[in-house]
Amino acid sequence: MLWNTIVESIRNCNKCMLHKSRTKPVPGEGNLDAVILFIGEAPGRQEDLSGRPFVGQAGKLLEVLLRSIGLRREEVFITNVVKCRPPNNRDPKEEEVRACSVHTQAIIRLIKPKVIVTLGNHSGKYVFSVLGGREWMSVSRMRGRIYELELRNLGKVLVIPTYHPAAALYNPKVRPALEKDFSLIVEAQERLAKIEESTAKGKPKSLLDFLRSKQ
Ligand code: URA
Repeated sequence: MLWNTIVESIRNCNKCMLHKSRTKPVPGEGNLDAVILFIGEAPGRQEDLSGRPFVGQAGKLLEVLLRSIGLRREEVFITNVVKCRPPNNRDPKEEEVRACSVHTQAIIRLIKPKVIVTLGNHSGKYVFSVLGGREWMSVSRMRGRIYELELRNLGKVLVIPTYHPAAALYNPKVRPALEKDFSLIVEAQERLAKIEESTAKGKPKSLLDFLRSKQ
């Protein structure tokens, strides 16, 4: 599916009630060829007004964290488990996340990321339990490592679950863990680069077998 088609189907979506109260839908943005996909929670006020993900305070911190590992937001792709703002910034409901899953899956199928970074509990729970069929505990129990997950109908990816950047704005004690988890993105990239190198030399490609190759 083309990106414009996905945007259009999100614009016309009425699978949950969030479309009634939103200003603009927020499908996501970034590099359509990105290796790394970030999945956040839900648009907030700024995102709802602009139609762009992570443009408020949490977005500023996300950009700082990206820069700390040498990435710009234009190089990655950023979306959310729900594409419309929940009223008063309440947490998205499980049925809303599931209703929006058709769009999230279309985005994953289009981008074909090799690494997915889940930001916060809702996103981690969605990727692990809904797409990965794996048990999800809390962010604090799951974070701090790279998982190799087989996602339903979407193939295999490396998944790095971490806190939502907003958590570090409320509680600065969270920030070191978030920074540590972002360093795992570098580690994941290095792992992928090593596999690509050994494949180029005709050596066995264990993890590459595991990961879909980008077309
Ligand atoms: N928080 C999110 O989870 N997503 C956004 O787009 C903005 C804030």
